[in-house]
Amino acid sequence: MHEGVLIAAEAVSRSYRQGGASIAAVTSATFRLHAQDRIALMGRSGSGKSTLLHLMAGLDVPSSGALAWPALGAPDTLLPEKVSLVFQAPSLLEPMTVSENVALPLLLAKAAGDIDAAVSAALATFGLEGLARKLPEELSGGQMQRVAMARAIVGNPRVILADEPTGQLDQATGHALLDALIAHLSATHTALVIATHDPSVAGRMDTIWRIERGVLAVPVMAREGL
Ligand SMILES: Nc1ncnc2c1ncn2[C@@H]1O[C@H](COP(=O)(O)OP(=O)(O)O)[C@@H](O)[C@H]1O
Ligand SMILES: [Mg+2]
Repeated sequence: MHEGVLIAAEAVSRSYRQGGASIAAVTSATFRLHAQDRIALMGRSGSGKSTLLHLMAGLDVPSSGALAWPALGAPDTLLPEKVSLVFQAPSLLEPMTVSENVALPLLLAKAAGDIDAAVSAALATFGLEGLARKLPEELSGGQMQRVAMARAIVGNPRVILADEPTGQLDQATGHALLDALIAHLSATHTALVIATHDPSVAGRMDTIWRIERGVLAVPVMAREGL
């Protein structure tokens, strides 16, 4: 089903000031993200992947150019309901249990419905049922990544932006996490963008967007798509 354009970027740039210098993290990016897109955002370290994901989430603001979320609404309404961002760095809240961490987007969004049931289902998607009452400090790195993924899907967002979600995992663990995520999303219309420098991860997605020194290259369809 075609649900229109979720994110539209027109010549979006983001530069950072550092001392007297200006660092161009993203330069003139133009693209469209559609429902059900499965995109690998590939580029080496420092190429601008995290900056681009933060812009797409409305968490950061372009220095120039225009970003819009035609099917989603105003930037301050995106997180965490419509867009889930899985940060590159560990992001679980230490004093809260696994269940409480996963419930957070629903609580922030004041979601209706059975929160406990939604949390249980999200945990089960990633095989985490046994860890519900653990604290983050009791988990391995791989388990923390899976909990962060469970938190990203729990509210059934329209877009998931995952920043190197398998970066700290061995290949088998990383692929198991992707398998679970892709199987889950195949039942929804959620768009997925995964930043990675791992070709085997990128190979699991439908489309590759390459970014090099802030310059994004996307297929023609993703530039001109309606
Ligand atoms: N907050 C910041 N202040 C200054 N420079 C930054 C900041 N965040 C990122 N950069 C710089 O912007 C560029 C792109 O960074 P980033 O988006 O983190 O790339 P990637 O995620 O691909 O590793 C790099 O040169 C990085 O050093
Ligand atoms: Mg990064």
